[in-house]
Amino acid sequence: MTANLLDSLDVEGVDFAFEDIADVHAMLARLRTRRPFAVVPFAGVRAVLLLTNELVSAAFKDESTFPPAAVYRMTTQPVLGKTLQCMEGAEHRIARGVATPPFRRNKVSAYVEPLLEPIAHELIDRFQARGHADLIAEFTNTYPVLVISRLLGLPIEDETVVHRWAHDLFYFPMDPQAAMRASREFTDYVTPLLAERRREPGDDLISMLVTESSEGQFLDDEQVLSFLRLLFPAGADTTMLALGNTLSALLTHPDQLALLESDLDEHTPWAVWEGLRWEPPVGLLPRACPAAVEWNGIAIPALTPMIFSINAALRDPAVYERPDEFDISRRKQVMLAFGQGPHSCAGNWLAIAELTTALKVLLQRLPGLRLQPGADADAKVISQVGTALRGPTALHVGWRA
Ligand code: HEM
Repeated sequence: MTANLLDSLDVEGVDFAFEDIADVHAMLARLRTRRPFAVVPFAGVRAVLLLTNELVSAAFKDESTFPPAAVYRMTTQPVLGKTLQCMEGAEHRIARGVATPPFRRNKVSAYVEPLLEPIAHELIDRFQARGHADLIAEFTNTYPVLVISRLLGLPIEDETVVHRWAHDLFYFPMDPQAAMRASREFTDYVTPLLAERRREPGDDLISMLVTESSEGQFLDDEQVLSFLRLLFPAGADTTMLALGNTLSALLTHPDQLALLESDLDEHTPWAVWEGLRWEPPVGLLPRACPAAVEWNGIAIPALTPMIFSINAALRDPAVYERPDEFDISRRKQVMLAFGQGPHSCAGNWLAIAELTTALKVLLQRLPGLRLQPGADADAKVISQVGTALRGPTALHVGWRA
């Protein structure tokens, strides 16, 4: 009998689906010294974990071997509907063609002054005079939700309830009922707006989604709604975690924070990219391999769960020197933090603009920013909602008010 790849595990006593793995980067580095992939426990079964930059990048581009829809149809479709992530081929290309032009790089730079900076200032105004705050609870949690809410042109007085829906959609794996309720309530709230904006379009994202076409096709209401629902978990929560991770890295590396503060215009964009490399918010992305395949020398059995370890790929010593050092002078754009191939992140340039603006405004307004004594444990980046996503739980900081 031929040996099956999944017959033996490379690591035991952990679960890559549910548990925060202490010192995950050290474990991934250890596993990678043996092979470019590992067989690991995942929700009671065995998964293939891809560990190198080369394999993770190749796997993202190979949609036919590892179709995103195989996972997203089971995990997110029941609550978000049939989003871009559940689509394939022409359906995906056309829906993406309508929905994503406003997020292109050349469009997004125009959002910074009128949209992003005022939101950052508005949030900081609420706590700046106090001299201390938890930046997760009082800034990073709210900032990206407000960005999306205002891009959609939703009334400002509804932002508290929009924030609750965004929160409940994010915690879907923990509380599916609350997420389903949030999805229904958001749908009931936003559906009349689709008709209104079709009749009288403005310059907001909803108006664009209901009036634009791609290859001669328009989106129907359900396609628009599922894209809008996806924007919260895909666009707001990832950005929230990314900002927390970069702030956590800077606050625990005072030399890097000092370098950044010495010239914000020069260093902030690179601090953002290095933050994404050092601790990408989507760290361990689950996929599946539906059919048996011999792929890059790995004999993968049918129906094998896969994990694309973006966080291992971005610390691969074959690509990054001193990979475990947080160094903002590295000056590398790490696009892999946003996936690759046909389903790569549609909002990456918006995310970069949001992160750069927020970081710059925070450091301008909060001079002498530092962690409060005893705040280190909460500032540590850990798994959030399962293991795919990573971020700090709290950032208790002080500054010279
Ligand atoms: C730092 C922040 C962000 C990170 C790290 C991130 C990361 C990712 C990753 C890794 C994927 C690929 C998922 C997969 O292949 O299964 C993805 C897809 C996606 N992201 Fe982002 N994202 C961020 C921010 C945003 C923002 C701000 C938006 C929108 C406004 C957005 C919208 C999307 C959409 C719509 C997709 C699905 C694309 C498709 O399937 O065609 N993301 N993102």
